[in-house]
Amino acid sequence: MRVAIFGTGYVGLVTGTCLAEVGHQVTCVDIDQAKVDGLNHGIIPIYEPGLEPMVKENHAAFRLAFTVDAASAIGQCPVVFIAVGTPPDEDGSADLQYVLAVARTIGRHIQVPTVVVNKSTVPVGTADKVRAVIAAELSARGVDIAFDVVSNPEFLKEGDAVADCMRPDRIVVGSANADSVALMRRLYAPFNRNHDRVVEMDVRSAELTKYAANAMLATKISFMNEIANIAERVGADVEQVRQGIGSDPRIGWHFIYPGAGYGGSCFPKDVQALARTAQQAGLEPRLLNAVEAVNDAQKGHLFELIQRHYGSDGVRGRTIAVWGLAFKPNTDDMRAASSRRLLEQLWDAGACVRAYDPEAMDEARRIFGQRGDLVFCDSAGAALDGADALAVVTEWKPFRSPDFARLREALADAVVFDGRNLYDPAEIEAAGLAYYGIGRGR
Ligand code: UGA
Repeated sequence: MRVAIFGTGYVGLVTGTCLAEVGHQVTCVDIDQAKVDGLNHGIIPIYEPGLEPMVKENHAAFRLAFTVDAASAIGQCPVVFIAVGTPPDEDGSADLQYVLAVARTIGRHIQVPTVVVNKSTVPVGTADKVRAVIAAELSARGVDIAFDVVSNPEFLKEGDAVADCMRPDRIVVGSANADSVALMRRLYAPFNRNHDRVVEMDVRSAELTKYAANAMLATKISFMNEIANIAERVGADVEQVRQGIGSDPRIGWHFIYPGAGYGGSCFPKDVQALARTAQQAGLEPRLLNAVEAVNDAQKGHLFELIQRHYGSDGVRGRTIAVWGLAFKPNTDDMRAASSRRLLEQLWDAGACVRAYDPEAMDEARRIFGQRGDLVFCDSAGAALDGADALAVVTEWKPFRSPDFARLREALADAVVFDGRNLYDPAEIEAAGLAYYGIGRGR
Protein backbone atom coordinates (compact mmCIF):
# COMPACT_ATOMS: atom_id res chain seq x y z
CA MET A 1 0.00 0.00 0.00
CA ARG A 2 1.25 3.53 -0.69
CA VAL A 3 1.51 5.59 2.48
CA ALA A 4 2.56 9.18 3.17
CA ILE A 5 3.64 10.21 6.67
CA PHE A 6 3.97 13.82 7.81
CA GLY A 7 6.62 14.32 10.50
CA THR A 8 9.94 12.52 10.85
CA GLY A 9 10.22 12.75 14.65
CA TYR A 10 10.19 9.66 16.85
CA VAL A 11 6.70 8.61 15.95
CA GLY A 12 6.72 9.42 12.23
CA LEU A 13 10.15 8.04 11.51
CA VAL A 14 9.67 4.81 13.46
CA THR A 15 6.16 4.22 12.11
CA GLY A 16 7.22 4.95 8.54
CA THR A 17 10.24 2.68 8.77
CA CYS A 18 8.25 -0.20 10.27
CA LEU A 19 5.52 0.13 7.65
CA ALA A 20 8.21 0.01 4.94
CA GLU A 21 9.83 -2.96 6.66
CA VAL A 22 6.66 -5.03 6.16
CA GLY A 23 6.46 -4.07 2.49
CA HIS A 24 4.45 -0.87 2.24
CA GLN A 25 5.64 1.95 -0.01
CA VAL A 26 6.28 4.82 2.40
CA THR A 27 7.12 8.48 1.81
CA CYS A 28 8.00 10.52 4.89
CA VAL A 29 7.50 14.26 4.58
CA ASP A 30 9.13 16.93 6.72
CA ILE A 31 9.45 20.70 6.36
CA ASP A 32 13.08 20.55 7.58
CA GLN A 33 15.20 20.27 4.42
CA ALA A 34 18.42 19.53 6.35
CA LYS A 35 16.75 16.67 8.22
CA VAL A 36 15.35 15.23 5.00
CA ASP A 37 18.74 15.51 3.26
CA GLY A 38 20.37 13.79 6.23
CA LEU A 39 17.83 10.95 6.21
CA ASN A 40 18.34 10.45 2.47
CA HIS A 41 22.04 10.00 3.28
CA GLY A 42 21.43 7.59 6.16
CA ILE A 43 21.85 10.17 8.94
CA ILE A 44 19.27 9.41 11.63
CA PRO A 45 18.41 12.47 13.74
CA ILE A 46 17.66 10.47 16.92
CA TYR A 47 19.32 7.64 18.79
CA GLU A 48 16.96 4.68 18.79
CA PRO A 49 18.27 1.10 18.98
CA GLY A 50 17.78 -0.83 15.73
CA LEU A 51 16.38 2.08 13.76
CA GLU A 52 19.40 3.10 11.69
CA PRO A 53 19.96 -0.19 9.82
CA MET A 54 16.24 -0.51 9.19
CA VAL A 55 16.02 2.99 7.72
CA LYS A 56 19.05 2.34 5.51
CA GLU A 57 17.84 -1.04 4.26
CA ASN A 58 14.36 0.14 3.39
CA HIS A 59 15.67 3.32 1.82
CA ALA A 60 18.08 1.29 -0.32
CA ALA A 61 15.22 -1.02 -1.33
CA PHE A 62 13.18 2.03 -2.45
CA ARG A 63 10.38 1.29 0.02
CA LEU A 64 11.18 4.32 2.19
CA ALA A 65 11.68 7.84 0.83
CA PHE A 66 12.14 11.22 2.50
CA THR A 67 11.04 14.49 0.97
CA VAL A 68 9.94 18.06 1.64
CA ASP A 69 7.61 17.89 -1.36
CA ALA A 70 4.19 17.34 0.22
CA ALA A 71 2.25 17.45 -3.04
CA SER A 72 4.19 14.64 -4.69
CA ALA A 73 4.23 12.56 -1.50
CA ILE A 74 0.47 12.74 -1.08
CA GLY A 75 -0.09 12.15 -4.80
CA GLN A 76 -2.26 9.09 -5.18
CA CYS A 77 -1.80 7.77 -1.62
CA PRO A 78 -4.94 6.23 -0.10
CA VAL A 79 -3.49 6.71 3.42
CA VAL A 80 -1.84 9.82 4.84
CA PHE A 81 -0.54 9.87 8.42
CA ILE A 82 -0.18 12.95 10.61
CA ALA A 83 2.69 12.34 13.04
CA VAL A 84 3.91 15.80 13.99
CA GLY A 85 4.55 17.19 17.46
CA THR A 86 1.95 18.59 19.84
CA PRO A 87 4.10 20.58 22.28
CA PRO A 88 2.44 22.16 25.31
CA ASP A 89 1.45 25.80 24.95
CA GLU A 90 1.65 28.26 27.88
CA ASP A 91 -1.22 26.73 29.89
CA GLY A 92 -0.20 23.11 29.29
CA SER A 93 -2.79 22.46 26.56
CA ALA A 94 -1.53 20.65 23.48
CA ASP A 95 -0.58 23.12 20.76
CA LEU A 96 -2.27 21.94 17.55
CA GLN A 97 -0.67 24.36 15.10
CA TYR A 98 1.54 21.72 13.47
CA VAL A 99 -1.25 19.16 13.21
CA LEU A 100 -3.61 21.69 11.64
CA ALA A 101 -0.92 22.98 9.27
CA VAL A 102 -0.48 19.42 7.99
CA ALA A 103 -4.27 19.11 7.66
CA ARG A 104 -4.25 22.22 5.45
CA THR A 105 -1.48 20.76 3.30
CA ILE A 106 -3.41 17.50 2.95
CA GLY A 107 -6.56 19.38 1.94
CA ARG A 108 -4.61 21.26 -0.70
CA HIS A 109 -3.04 18.21 -2.30
CA ILE A 110 -5.18 15.08 -2.09
CA GLN A 111 -6.27 13.79 -5.48
CA VAL A 112 -8.00 10.51 -4.60
CA PRO A 113 -10.25 9.34 -1.74
CA THR A 114 -8.01 9.41 1.31
CA VAL A 115 -7.98 8.11 4.84
CA VAL A 116 -6.16 10.65 7.02
CA VAL A 117 -4.71 8.90 10.05
CA ASN A 118 -3.91 10.93 13.12
CA LYS A 119 -1.01 9.41 15.05
CA SER A 120 0.02 12.53 16.92
CA THR A 121 -1.10 12.69 20.55
CA VAL A 122 -4.00 15.11 20.30
CA PRO A 123 -6.81 16.24 22.60
CA VAL A 124 -10.26 14.79 22.23
CA GLY A 125 -12.06 16.53 19.38
CA THR A 126 -9.00 17.12 17.21
CA ALA A 127 -10.15 14.73 14.49
CA ASP A 128 -13.19 16.98 14.01
CA LYS A 129 -10.91 20.02 13.68
CA VAL A 130 -8.69 18.21 11.16
CA ARG A 131 -11.80 17.19 9.23
CA ALA A 132 -13.06 20.80 9.14
CA VAL A 133 -9.70 22.16 7.94
CA ILE A 134 -9.45 19.60 5.12
CA ALA A 135 -13.07 20.19 4.09
CA ALA A 136 -12.43 23.96 3.95
CA GLU A 137 -9.37 23.46 1.71
CA LEU A 138 -11.27 21.13 -0.61
CA SER A 139 -14.11 23.58 -0.96
CA ALA A 140 -11.60 26.40 -1.63
CA ARG A 141 -10.23 24.21 -4.43
CA GLY A 142 -13.77 23.62 -5.64
CA VAL A 143 -13.34 19.85 -5.59
CA ASP A 144 -15.25 17.10 -3.85
CA ILE A 145 -12.95 14.27 -2.81
CA ALA A 146 -14.06 11.75 -0.18
CA PHE A 147 -11.89 11.57 2.92
CA ASP A 148 -12.11 10.31 6.49
CA VAL A 149 -10.09 11.16 9.60
CA VAL A 150 -9.13 8.18 11.75
CA SER A 151 -7.54 8.30 15.20
CA ASN A 152 -4.75 5.74 15.53
CA PRO A 153 -2.67 6.70 18.57
CA GLU A 154 0.80 5.25 19.02
CA PHE A 155 2.07 3.51 22.15
CA LEU A 156 5.77 3.11 21.41
CA LYS A 157 8.40 3.78 24.07
CA GLU A 158 11.63 5.57 23.34
CA GLY A 159 14.48 3.09 23.49
CA ASP A 160 12.14 0.23 22.51
CA ALA A 161 10.36 2.06 19.72
CA VAL A 162 11.19 -0.32 16.87
CA ALA A 163 10.23 -3.43 18.85
CA ASP A 164 7.03 -1.78 20.11
CA CYS A 165 6.11 -0.79 16.58
CA MET A 166 6.90 -4.17 15.00
CA ARG A 167 5.14 -6.09 17.79
CA PRO A 168 2.36 -3.84 19.09
CA ASP A 169 0.29 -5.08 22.02
CA ARG A 170 -2.72 -3.24 20.59
CA ILE A 171 -3.60 -1.23 17.50
CA VAL A 172 -6.28 1.29 18.39
CA VAL A 173 -8.38 2.42 15.42
CA GLY A 174 -10.95 5.12 16.06
CA SER A 175 -13.42 5.65 13.24
CA ALA A 176 -17.13 5.48 12.56
CA ASN A 177 -16.50 4.48 8.94
CA ALA A 178 -16.37 0.75 8.17
CA ASP A 179 -14.37 1.27 4.95
CA SER A 180 -11.68 3.24 6.83
CA VAL A 181 -11.45 0.54 9.47
CA ALA A 182 -11.13 -2.13 6.77
CA LEU A 183 -8.32 -0.17 5.13
CA MET A 184 -6.52 0.24 8.47
CA ARG A 185 -6.84 -3.49 9.06
CA ARG A 186 -5.22 -4.18 5.65
CA LEU A 187 -2.42 -1.71 6.40
CA TYR A 188 -1.68 -3.30 9.79
CA ALA A 189 -2.31 -6.93 8.75
CA PRO A 190 1.45 -7.78 8.82
CA PHE A 191 1.58 -6.66 12.49
CA ASN A 192 -1.63 -8.41 13.40
CA ARG A 193 -0.89 -12.12 13.05
CA ASN A 194 -1.77 -14.90 15.55
CA HIS A 195 -4.41 -12.92 17.43
CA ASP A 196 -6.38 -9.77 16.70
CA ARG A 197 -4.68 -6.73 18.15
CA VAL A 198 -6.93 -4.19 16.46
CA VAL A 199 -9.25 -2.47 18.93
CA GLU A 200 -11.98 -0.64 17.06
CA MET A 201 -13.74 2.28 18.70
CA ASP A 202 -15.16 5.72 18.01
CA VAL A 203 -12.80 8.58 17.23
CA ARG A 204 -13.11 10.45 20.54
CA SER A 205 -12.61 7.31 22.60
CA ALA A 206 -9.44 6.56 20.62
CA GLU A 207 -8.15 10.06 21.25
CA LEU A 208 -8.86 9.74 24.97
CA THR A 209 -7.37 6.22 25.11
CA LYS A 210 -3.91 7.58 24.37
CA TYR A 211 -4.06 10.08 27.24
CA ALA A 212 -5.66 7.56 29.58
CA ALA A 213 -2.80 5.10 28.97
CA ASN A 214 -0.06 7.62 29.66
CA ALA A 215 -1.88 9.19 32.60
CA MET A 216 -2.42 5.76 34.19
CA LEU A 217 1.28 4.90 33.85
CA ALA A 218 2.31 8.30 35.22
CA THR A 219 -0.11 7.78 38.11
CA LYS A 220 1.53 4.47 39.01
CA ILE A 221 4.92 6.17 39.12
CA SER A 222 3.75 9.12 41.23
CA PHE A 223 1.92 6.71 43.52
CA MET A 224 5.11 4.73 44.10
CA ASN A 225 7.11 7.89 44.62
CA GLU A 226 4.62 8.93 47.28
CA ILE A 227 4.88 5.52 48.94
CA ALA A 228 8.69 5.95 48.79
CA ASN A 229 8.41 9.27 50.58
CA ILE A 230 6.21 7.71 53.24
CA ALA A 231 8.66 4.79 53.57
CA GLU A 232 11.51 7.21 54.07
CA ARG A 233 9.73 8.86 56.98
CA VAL A 234 8.56 5.71 58.73
CA GLY A 235 11.76 3.71 58.41
CA ALA A 236 10.55 1.25 55.75
CA ASP A 237 12.29 0.29 52.48
CA VAL A 238 10.16 0.96 49.41
CA GLU A 239 12.13 -1.64 47.42
CA GLN A 240 10.84 -4.32 49.77
CA VAL A 241 7.36 -2.85 49.51
CA ARG A 242 7.63 -2.96 45.70
CA GLN A 243 8.58 -6.64 45.85
CA GLY A 244 5.65 -7.17 48.17
CA ILE A 245 3.00 -5.71 45.88
CA GLY A 246 4.16 -6.42 42.31
CA SER A 247 3.20 -10.09 42.26
CA ASP A 248 -0.48 -9.17 42.59
CA PRO A 249 -1.48 -9.25 38.91
CA ARG A 250 -3.96 -6.45 39.55
CA ILE A 251 -0.96 -4.25 40.43
CA GLY A 252 1.77 -5.82 38.27
CA TRP A 253 5.53 -5.37 38.17
CA HIS A 254 5.62 -2.60 35.58
CA PHE A 255 5.86 1.09 36.34
CA ILE A 256 6.11 0.72 40.10
CA TYR A 257 9.76 1.77 40.26
CA PRO A 258 10.20 4.82 42.47
CA GLY A 259 12.95 7.18 41.43
CA ALA A 260 13.90 10.71 40.52
CA GLY A 261 10.55 11.36 38.81
CA TYR A 262 9.26 10.71 35.31
CA GLY A 263 10.47 12.82 32.40
CA GLY A 264 10.49 12.63 28.63
CA SER A 265 8.39 14.12 25.90
CA CYS A 266 5.18 12.28 26.79
CA PHE A 267 4.15 11.81 30.42
CA PRO A 268 4.75 15.38 31.68
CA LYS A 269 3.10 16.91 28.61
CA ASP A 270 0.23 14.43 28.34
CA VAL A 271 -0.76 14.52 32.03
CA GLN A 272 -0.90 18.32 31.81
CA ALA A 273 -2.80 18.30 28.53
CA LEU A 274 -5.39 15.84 29.88
CA ALA A 275 -5.78 17.98 32.98
CA ARG A 276 -6.45 21.04 30.79
CA THR A 277 -8.94 19.05 28.71
CA ALA A 278 -10.78 18.11 31.91
CA GLN A 279 -10.80 21.72 33.11
CA GLN A 280 -12.08 22.95 29.77
CA ALA A 281 -14.85 20.38 30.09
CA GLY A 282 -15.73 21.78 33.54
CA LEU A 283 -14.11 19.08 35.67
CA GLU A 284 -11.32 19.76 38.15
CA PRO A 285 -8.91 16.82 37.62
CA ARG A 286 -7.81 16.37 41.24
CA LEU A 287 -5.97 13.12 40.68
CA LEU A 288 -4.08 14.31 37.58
CA ASN A 289 -3.08 17.52 39.35
CA ALA A 290 -1.71 15.44 42.22
CA VAL A 291 0.18 13.11 39.85
CA GLU A 292 1.88 16.13 38.33
CA ALA A 293 2.59 17.83 41.67
CA VAL A 294 4.10 14.66 43.17
CA ASN A 295 6.33 14.26 40.11
CA ASP A 296 7.44 17.85 40.18
CA ALA A 297 8.47 17.53 43.83
CA GLN A 298 10.13 14.18 43.16
CA LYS A 299 12.45 15.72 40.59
CA GLY A 300 13.93 17.76 43.44
CA HIS A 301 14.23 14.84 45.84
CA LEU A 302 17.72 13.72 44.93
CA PHE A 303 19.00 17.19 45.67
CA GLU A 304 17.16 17.15 49.01
CA LEU A 305 19.08 13.97 49.91
CA ILE A 306 22.35 15.61 48.91
CA GLN A 307 21.50 18.60 51.09
CA ARG A 308 20.47 16.33 53.94
CA HIS A 309 23.92 14.75 53.84
CA TYR A 310 25.93 17.94 53.53
CA GLY A 311 23.81 20.30 55.64
CA SER A 312 22.13 23.46 54.39
CA ASP A 313 25.16 25.29 52.95
CA GLY A 314 27.46 22.28 52.79
CA VAL A 315 26.92 21.62 49.08
CA ARG A 316 28.80 24.81 48.15
CA GLY A 317 32.21 24.07 46.64
CA ARG A 318 31.57 20.29 46.28
CA THR A 319 32.07 18.41 43.04
CA ILE A 320 29.32 15.92 42.27
CA ALA A 321 29.71 13.19 39.65
CA VAL A 322 26.39 12.69 37.84
CA TRP A 323 25.77 9.40 36.03
CA GLY A 324 22.92 9.62 33.54
CA LEU A 325 21.46 12.69 31.84
CA ALA A 326 18.87 11.18 29.48
CA PHE A 327 15.32 10.96 30.88
CA LYS A 328 15.66 7.17 30.77
CA PRO A 329 18.13 4.60 29.43
CA ASN A 330 18.60 3.78 25.72
CA THR A 331 17.83 7.25 24.47
CA ASP A 332 19.68 10.54 24.07
CA ASP A 333 16.49 12.45 24.85
CA MET A 334 16.78 14.94 27.73
CA ARG A 335 13.35 16.54 27.43
CA ALA A 336 11.94 17.11 30.95
CA ALA A 337 14.74 14.88 32.28
CA SER A 338 15.18 14.78 36.06
CA SER A 339 18.91 15.36 35.55
CA ARG A 340 18.19 18.89 34.38
CA ARG A 341 16.50 19.81 37.66
CA LEU A 342 19.32 18.24 39.68
CA LEU A 343 22.05 20.06 37.77
CA GLU A 344 20.29 23.42 38.13
CA GLN A 345 19.85 22.83 41.87
CA LEU A 346 23.49 21.81 42.31
CA TRP A 347 24.68 24.88 40.45
CA ASP A 348 22.36 27.17 42.42
CA ALA A 349 23.84 25.69 45.62
CA GLY A 350 27.39 26.40 44.41
CA ALA A 351 28.46 22.87 43.43
CA CYS A 352 30.36 21.73 40.34
CA VAL A 353 29.18 18.80 38.21
CA ARG A 354 31.15 16.13 36.37
CA ALA A 355 28.57 14.56 34.05
CA TYR A 356 28.49 11.40 31.97
CA ASP A 357 25.77 9.73 29.91
CA PRO A 358 26.34 6.91 27.41
CA GLU A 359 24.29 8.65 24.65
CA ALA A 360 23.18 12.13 25.71
CA MET A 361 26.51 14.00 25.84
CA ASP A 362 25.91 15.89 22.58
CA GLU A 363 22.42 16.78 23.69
CA ALA A 364 23.76 17.96 27.07
CA ARG A 365 26.37 20.15 25.32
CA ARG A 366 23.61 21.62 23.18
CA ILE A 367 21.41 22.33 26.21
CA PHE A 368 23.98 23.61 28.73
CA GLY A 369 26.79 24.94 26.53
CA GLN A 370 30.18 25.63 28.06
CA ARG A 371 30.14 26.64 31.71
CA GLY A 372 32.76 26.66 34.43
CA ASP A 373 30.76 24.50 36.84
CA LEU A 374 30.14 21.65 34.39
CA VAL A 375 32.65 19.14 33.05
CA PHE A 376 31.49 16.76 30.31
CA CYS A 377 33.24 13.42 30.89
CA ASP A 378 34.00 10.62 28.44
CA SER A 379 33.18 7.74 30.73
CA ALA A 380 31.52 6.86 34.01
CA GLY A 381 34.98 6.38 35.53
CA ALA A 382 36.21 9.76 34.31
CA ALA A 383 33.23 11.46 35.95
CA LEU A 384 34.45 10.16 39.33
CA ASP A 385 37.92 11.69 39.01
CA GLY A 386 38.18 14.53 41.50
CA ALA A 387 34.54 14.14 42.56
CA ASP A 388 33.37 14.25 46.17
CA ALA A 389 30.15 12.30 45.69
CA LEU A 390 28.21 10.37 43.04
CA ALA A 391 24.58 10.93 42.06
CA VAL A 392 22.95 8.38 39.74
CA VAL A 393 20.00 9.79 37.81
CA THR A 394 19.39 7.36 34.91
CA GLU A 395 19.43 3.57 35.22
CA TRP A 396 21.67 2.77 32.25
CA LYS A 397 22.86 -0.87 32.34
CA PRO A 398 26.58 0.01 32.63
CA PHE A 399 25.83 1.86 35.89
CA ARG A 400 24.17 -1.13 37.52
CA SER A 401 27.14 -2.91 39.06
CA PRO A 402 30.10 -0.60 39.54
CA ASP A 403 33.22 -1.59 41.45
CA PHE A 404 32.31 -0.21 44.88
CA ALA A 405 35.92 -0.34 46.08
CA ARG A 406 36.86 1.90 43.15
CA LEU A 407 34.00 4.24 44.03
CA ARG A 408 35.24 4.34 47.62
CA GLU A 409 38.73 5.29 46.46
CA ALA A 410 37.58 7.88 43.93
CA LEU A 411 34.95 9.79 45.90
CA ALA A 412 36.52 12.12 48.45
CA ASP A 413 33.38 12.20 50.62
CA ALA A 414 32.60 8.50 50.03
CA VAL A 415 28.89 8.98 49.43
CA VAL A 416 26.49 7.73 46.75
CA PHE A 417 23.06 9.22 46.01
CA ASP A 418 21.14 6.55 44.12
CA GLY A 419 18.22 8.21 42.32
CA ARG A 420 17.01 4.93 40.78
CA ASN A 421 17.56 2.46 43.63
CA LEU A 422 20.10 0.48 41.59
CA TYR A 423 22.28 -0.65 44.45
CA ASP A 424 22.02 -2.83 47.52
CA PRO A 425 22.51 -0.42 50.45
CA ALA A 426 24.17 -3.11 52.59
CA GLU A 427 26.71 -3.93 49.86
CA ILE A 428 27.56 -0.30 49.26
CA GLU A 429 27.86 0.45 52.98
CA ALA A 430 30.08 -2.62 53.44
CA ALA A 431 32.45 -1.03 50.91
CA GLY A 432 32.75 1.99 53.21
CA LEU A 433 30.42 4.33 51.34
CA ALA A 434 27.45 6.24 52.70
CA TYR A 435 24.27 5.43 50.77
CA TYR A 436 21.12 7.40 50.02
CA GLY A 437 18.35 5.89 47.90
CA ILE A 438 14.74 6.76 47.18
CA GLY A 439 12.41 5.67 49.98
CA ARG A 440 14.90 3.38 51.65
CA GLY A 441 15.28 5.05 55.02
CA ARG A 442 18.84 6.12 54.23
C1 UGA B 1 5.74 6.65 27.29
C2 UGA B 1 4.83 5.40 27.36
O1 UGA B 1 5.44 4.39 28.16
C3 UGA B 1 4.56 4.86 25.95
O2 UGA B 1 3.64 3.77 26.03
C4 UGA B 1 3.96 5.99 25.11
O3 UGA B 1 3.70 5.58 23.78
C5 UGA B 1 4.95 7.15 25.07
O4 UGA B 1 5.17 7.62 26.42
C6 UGA B 1 4.34 8.25 24.23
O5 UGA B 1 3.29 8.79 24.60
O6 UGA B 1 4.86 8.52 23.15
P1 UGA B 1 8.40 7.04 27.08
O7 UGA B 1 8.10 8.47 27.44
O8 UGA B 1 9.26 6.77 25.91
O9 UGA B 1 7.02 6.23 26.80
O10 UGA B 1 9.12 6.39 28.33
P2 UGA B 1 8.76 5.42 29.55
O11 UGA B 1 9.54 4.19 29.43
O12 UGA B 1 7.31 5.28 29.71
O13 UGA B 1 9.36 6.25 30.79
C7 UGA B 1 8.85 7.53 31.14
C8 UGA B 1 9.48 8.04 32.41
O14 UGA B 1 8.97 7.33 33.53
C9 UGA B 1 11.01 7.90 32.48
O15 UGA B 1 11.55 9.11 32.99
C10 UGA B 1 11.22 6.76 33.46
O16 UGA B 1 12.44 6.86 34.15
C11 UGA B 1 10.04 6.93 34.39
N1 UGA B 1 9.66 5.69 35.10
C12 UGA B 1 9.16 4.63 34.40
C13 UGA B 1 9.77 5.63 36.47
O17 UGA B 1 10.20 6.59 37.15
N2 UGA B 1 9.37 4.49 37.12
C14 UGA B 1 8.86 3.42 36.46
O18 UGA B 1 8.50 2.42 37.12
C15 UGA B 1 8.77 3.49 35.07
